Amino acid sequence: MSAPLIELVEIEKHFGPVIALNGVSVSVDAGECHCLLGDNGAGKSTFIKTMSGVHKPTGGKILAEGREISFDSPRDAMLAGIATVYQDLAMIPLMSVTRNFWMGREPQKRVGPFKFFDFSEANEITMTEMAKMGIRLRSPDQAVGTLSGGERQTVAIARAVYFGAKVLILDEPTSALGVRQTSNVLATIDKVRKNGIGVVFITHNVRHAMAVGDRFTVLNRGKTLGTAKRGDINAEELQDLMAGGQDLAQLEGSLGGTV
Ligand SMILES: Nc1ncnc2c1ncn2[C@@H]1O[C@H](COP(=O)(O)OP(=O)(O)OP(=O)(O)O)[C@@H](O)[C@H]1O
Ligand SMILES: [Mg+2]
Repeated sequence: MSAPLIELVEIEKHFGPVIALNGVSVSVDAGECHCLLGDNGAGKSTFIKTMSGVHKPTGGKILAEGREISFDSPRDAMLAGIATVYQDLAMIPLMSVTRNFWMGREPQKRVGPFKFFDFSEANEITMTEMAKMGIRLRSPDQAVGTLSGGERQTVAIARAVYFGAKVLILDEPTSALGVRQTSNVLATIDKVRKNGIGVVFITHNVRHAMAVGDRFTVLNRGKTLGTAKRGDINAEELQDLMAGGQDLAQLEGSLGGTV
């Protein structure tokens, strides 16, 4: 067994008097999809921001492939191969897919002393990388704003993978998507994982988690309720853990159906 790609041990994060994380441990192996579940305010975003160098933990340690490290900035984490796709994606809707894919890292062509953006190479790589993720673009010139939500997520994921992500963090990538788009994104997660990348998939949706997850960690008020492997837990148990079972049972009772 090789060391996990990244391991966070007993992470604490306080914001003044607010204890957002109170001893959370999660590890991510190569080629696994580790789902992070939990209700609003559980600490999911705070946790992945700690993993991606946005926040410095108040306590605990971070190991990358077995060695203790600390990130001073998101850039440090990116250099270590940790890429985050946030829900707002940081894309420019009016620019083409290719421009968004490269964002300042464009391949250059030299003609004498001059350097040019090599459009044809950039376009070709963009089309190829998107096709690998199962998306056939009409044209690389297509504006990102005209893509569907799921396709946009895929551009962001393909970009992170192309630029060498070892750990890919997805913060609620399916929460704003319809059924078909969701299944596209889940299929993309599956492809990424098969490339040996470790995926951290944050979601509120137990079914989305069950569809692709290898391991599931549930957060509740800044603490882990535990980590379960695929096959050791079913959707109902996961749902119960997430919502603190009792509340949901009451809600089901009062609505007279299944939530
Ligand atoms: N910068 C901050 N300053 C103070 N408190 C914060 C800060 N960031 C997060 N918190 C608090 O930490 C707790 C966890 O928040 P976090 O955003 O991590 O939850 P979450 O699980 O991502 O929730 P959601 O599902 O709603 O996105 C909340 O109580 C939140 O108010
Ligand atoms: Mg959040």
